[in-house]
Amino acid sequence: YTITSQTVSESCPSNIALIKYWGKYADQIPANPSISYTLNHCKTNTTMEFLADEPFSVQTYLAGNEEVKFAEKIEKYFKNIEKYLPWILKGKYIITTENTFPHSSGIASSASGFGAIAKCLMNLDGIFSGKVSEQESLQKASFLARLGSGSACRSLYNGLVVWGASDEVSGSSDLFAVPYPNEEVHDIFKDFNDWVLLIHEGQKSVSSTVGHGLMKTNPYAERRFQEAKENFVPMKEILKNGDLDSFIKLVEHEALTLHAMMMMSDPAFILMKVGTLEVINKIWDFRRETQLPLFFTLDAGANVHLLFPNNGSEEKIKNFIESELLQHTQKNGVVKDIMKF
Ligand code: PMV
Repeated sequence: YTITSQTVSESCPSNIALIKYWGKYADQIPANPSISYTLNHCKTNTTMEFLADEPFSVQTYLAGNEEVKFAEKIEKYFKNIEKYLPWILKGKYIITTENTFPHSSGIASSASGFGAIAKCLMNLDGIFSGKVSEQESLQKASFLARLGSGSACRSLYNGLVVWGASDEVSGSSDLFAVPYPNEEVHDIFKDFNDWVLLIHEGQKSVSSTVGHGLMKTNPYAERRFQEAKENFVPMKEILKNGDLDSFIKLVEHEALTLHAMMMMSDPAFILMKVGTLEVINKIWDFRRETQLPLFFTLDAGANVHLLFPNNGSEEKIKNFIESELLQHTQKNGVVKDIMKF
């Protein structure tokens, strides 16, 4: 390694899980495999200034404001990954980040944030070690991102991405994410919309760290982990055949199961708000009345991700969202993204 002062910049998108990761073992090993869509437009842009020969310290700025708490988190994270990047504690870092989506919108900024930091680190590693293999570097970036925030490891690849060992996905691993084979994905899933309705912009009442921890004592956890594993069997078929109806059923079931797990934890959490339930019911009514493929998924929060394909019905669906669903959001907020690959 030849360590010199450098400034690198990277951008990384967020992602939304279809089969959810909820529950983990030591060292960020997921209790079940998960699959997500990478969001094309919800991104974190990060610039990392590395000052060699200065004592190790981290300063972080989010949209121009210094973030001391986040810096402490990153310092801890860097110490934790020193065994994989031996040079990492040999300098000072000034990290500047900005998100292309509203802060605290409930869109996973930790996924895009840790993804972008991991990419910056691998960029520096390539400069210091003098060897850069694109594929190896991406895999190691995914591995490192996982140690920051589990779901972040899926943000390193575009399209559909799997994290966690599954018999259904060759090459899948608990240690890093892999892209789902493109040739096994029906075209209908390659041009999809994800519109996030901002139902509630406040702080979440449970962090994902606490949430994962609660699965340790949840009496339904083992069955849930098993079900998620089993769900990869129909998911694989669905993705291949373009069976939208089964996709809708599976994805909504996964979202509701995630929330059911939180409700059955001790202590219990209800992260849905009144608006979340109103929107879900309106989606179900709309689907019953029109048979059009509008459906939802949820993260560990109140906001609703509205999913629908670009298969000719999107204009009717967009009209419905803007005329009926937007009134349930705070400040009529919606973040529009499109997953195209
Ligand atoms: O990556 P974490 O530890 O913030 O966990 C996120 C878990 C969910 O977003 C709720 C589900 C998922 O698979 O992304």
